[in-house]
Order: sequence, then structure tokens, then C-alpha cells
Amino acid sequence: MGLKITQTAHYVPPKVVTNDDLAAMMDTSDEWISSRTGIKQRHLAQQEQTSDLAIKVAKQLLKQANCSADQVDFIIVATMSPDYLTPSTAAIVQGAIGANGALAFDLNAACSGFVYALAAADKLLTTYRRGIVIGAEVLSKLVDWQERSTAVLFGDGAGGVLVEQSPEQSLIAEDLTTYGQEGSTLTAGYQPVNSAFNKDEAAAHKHYFEMDGRAVYRFATHEVPNSIERALAKTDWQLADVDWFVLHQANGRILTSIAHHLGANEQKFLSNVAKYGNTSAASIPLLLDEAVAAGKIQPGQKLILSGFGGGLTAGTIAIIF
Ligand code: ACO
Repeated sequence: MGLKITQTAHYVPPKVVTNDDLAAMMDTSDEWISSRTGIKQRHLAQQEQTSDLAIKVAKQLLKQANCSADQVDFIIVATMSPDYLTPSTAAIVQGAIGANGALAFDLNAACSGFVYALAAADKLLTTYRRGIVIGAEVLSKLVDWQERSTAVLFGDGAGGVLVEQSPEQSLIAEDLTTYGQEGSTLTAGYQPVNSAFNKDEAAAHKHYFEMDGRAVYRFATHEVPNSIERALAKTDWQLADVDWFVLHQANGRILTSIAHHLGANEQKFLSNVAKYGNTSAASIPLLLDEAVAAGKIQPGQKLILSGFGGGLTAGTIAIIF
């Protein structure tokens, strides 16, 4: 018994903010952002919360599958920007779509979240028949719009998959790693202590992204190729057998560097970072759905899904689509 992805879907909020729009707000330029990151624009939520994006994706998945919500056994939302600490975003989705019999929880592994969540779904599918796995982020809640070094990088969006128990295992291998000692390299959403006698006023700014960009860059370009190689070593695939690499979309230069480190064909690395920026846990399912809709990803193809980011975390899955 194993996991099969049977539907993909995505949703992004309608508001598009270009690099030129940001250059009108802060000391940056389209030239700097494009050349350093490959990002040209991002979608930003105006009124919509993380759960609103995730609910749209969940409804779309069910519509495409012609499946009712009471046939869903579990819902996992991978997010680092939930509406609340409780209820979980997944519980809000469960209530909104009326999946009354489904267990629901959030999973936070930052930009590796969707890959971690698919790995968790694979284990749940030994017991349950059908689940929804969504990556959803409104990262703009965590952006300091005065801080150009991070403000230009992030965007909002959601993507997800319907997964079902299948007699054949399509998730062939996984490699999930966490490097907690390097966690301070990338932080956001700090929850200050707030006892009756000690208010941590100095921590207010830690709500926003703080990132050692070069350290994260080094981590991604070294750890992701290693993670992909470790996952491939657990399969009988050669590197050249992989049809598509569906990686977390943080920066176009990181994708190029990973392809070179691996010695892989860069044309096989799908990318939409120019349109959406870094949407953390949403980026892989968003890219997956776009490539499926465009007819690039076909049933039976061999895919590598790989995420990397806060934690620090990295995760790779080898899957037959
Ligand atoms: N516009 C113009 N200039 C800028 C901007 C900006 N938006 N941001 C920084 N600069 C300036 C800096 O002040 C610096 O100026 P100085 O040389 O006068 O001091 C100069 O540009 C170079 O800055 P660096 O930070 O050294 O630029 P770098 O080439 O390292 O690129 C970047 C920065 C794009 C962030 C890169 O380090 C990167 O992509 N890192 C990885 C980030 C990443 O992938 N994060 C994923 C996180 S995922 C998650 O878990 C949420």
C-alpha cells in the first residue's frame, strides 16, 4: 500500500506587486532583485488569511476529484504563517469544507513543509484512505516592509494535492533532515514571553523575518544536492532518469547552482519564482500544479521534490507521479 497523488490545485491572491512597485516604496530596483533572485513579481494577500487560500485549494481539489468532503480522512496544512496558533489552519479548513470525519493538523517545517507533510501523509495512508495535503502561506504578515533585504523575496499563495491509498507505492524514497543548531540563521514570528511581571518589549521586531541570506544560500546549495543524492541512493534510479526536479522556489540562482552541483540538466528544474517569489511551504505544490496543468508533468514520470529553509530544514522525496 502506498501514496498516490490524484489531484493538484493552487490559488494565489489576485494582487500582483512588481519589483518596480517595491522600488517606489523602498531603496531597491528591478535590476537588483531580478539579477540576485530571478523574482519579477509576487502576489500579496489584501484581506485573505492563510486559511482562506487553503480553503480555496481544498475545495478545488474535491471539485476536480468529484469527491465529497466526508470522504476525506485527513487534512495536513504545511505553513509557517498560520491564522492562529490554535485552531490550526488545517482545522479551519476542515470546518469550512465540512470534512467532519477528517483529522486535521498543521505542520511547520518552513520551506521544507510540503515535502515533510507528504512524507507524513504517506505514513497516514497505511491506515487511512484519502487525505488533503496543502502548503499555504501569507508570508507578507511576517515581512518588515522597511527592510529591503527580506521584503523583496517573499510572496503569498497556496497549493495542494489530494492523496489516496494505492496498491502501488509511488513515493519511492525520502530524505528529511533538520539542523536545529543553525536555526537562528532564519527566524520569523517570534512569540515573546509575556508574564504578568516581565514583558519582553525588545523582542517586538523579532516578529519579522531576520535572515543571514548568504548562510541560507550556502546551506541550500550544499545541503539540497546532498539530500537529493541520498534520496536517489535509496532508489534504483540514476540522476538522468529523473524527468523533473520540483524544488522550493527561493531564488533562481540557487536552482542553477543545485543543478550544477548535481551535474543534472538544468532544463529539468521547473521554476516559477519570477511570478510568485518565495512562498515557503506553498512553492512546491504551486509549481507542481502549474506544471501538471501545462502538460509538462505527465502520469508515470519520475519526480524529485525538494524543499529547504527555516529550521534549518531540508527534505527530498522521489516520487512516481
Ligand atoms: N535592493 C537593493 N540592494 C539591496 C537589497 C535590495 N532589496 N537587499 C540588499 N541590498 C544590498 C545590501 O545592502 C548590500 O549592500 P552593500 O554591499 O553596500 O552592503 C548588497 O545589496 C549585497 O547584499 P547581500 O545580502 O550580500 O546580497 P546577496 O548577493 O547575498 O543576495 C540574497 C541576497 C538574494 C538574499 C541571497 O543571499 C539569497 O538568495 N539567499 C538565500 C535566501 C533564501 O533562499 N532564503 C530562503 C528562505 S526560505 C524560508 O524558510 C522562509
